[in-house]
Amino acid sequence: MNDPRPSILHQNRETFVAFEGIDGSGKTTQAHMLTDYLASRGIEVVLTCEPTNGPIGQAIRQAAVSPNPISPQEETELFIRDRADHVQNLILPALRLKQVVITDRYYLSTMAYQGARGLDPETIRRQNELFAPSPNLTLLIDIPPAIALQRIQARGRHLEKFEMFDFLVRVREIYLTQVTLGFPGLVLIDGRQEPAAVHHHVTNLVERLLDRRDGHD
Ligand code: TYD
Repeated sequence: MNDPRPSILHQNRETFVAFEGIDGSGKTTQAHMLTDYLASRGIEVVLTCEPTNGPIGQAIRQAAVSPNPISPQEETELFIRDRADHVQNLILPALRLKQVVITDRYYLSTMAYQGARGLDPETIRRQNELFAPSPNLTLLIDIPPAIALQRIQARGRHLEKFEMFDFLVRVREIYLTQVTLGFPGLVLIDGRQEPAAVHHHVTNLVERLLDRRDGHD
């Protein structure tokens, strides 16, 4: 099938990396470590995240703590609107300037999290791919939910819902199913390792991507 998106990326020379994983997986730490590593090598790099810090991202964070829960459909719509702004105002301009873009969560999060709330991940993927460029590499930092919850509690964060564990089990299942289905550019990384070991794996993968971009492969 033809890719319906406008020709936003040219000859695969852009470098767009997404980190994914359940809460507590360590992906935010890894996104920062990768950014610092690339910057120390003199590479122009932009680190960003979703939900964004823009007005829709803030509305999403507010909805998450509000006593009136929103439906999975409304939630998906908010994440998509937040992402559309993010793509137009930050991701595409940076990629066009040939900056490396690293995002802490992207549309695979909507597939996994809103999928875990009962929506069809493939429908969510199609909605996103109408406007959102695909990352060249998506790093899934995978850990069992029991370890994730221990880590979140160790950080002193209060667990909001008792059923959180079951929810994260479903989120993780969708992520892992996407690995099996061959979601383009998705690589599974064992997040139970020490941060330095995870970082080593991540930098190897990104170095390979940069070599390909620079035509050394
Ligand atoms: P998170 O990365 O944990 O941000 P922060 O650490 O700044 O709070 O993301 C917040 C929550 O949003 C997380 O539980 C996952 C959820 N989320 C979705 O449900 N769908 C999405 O599309 C995205 C991007 C995030």
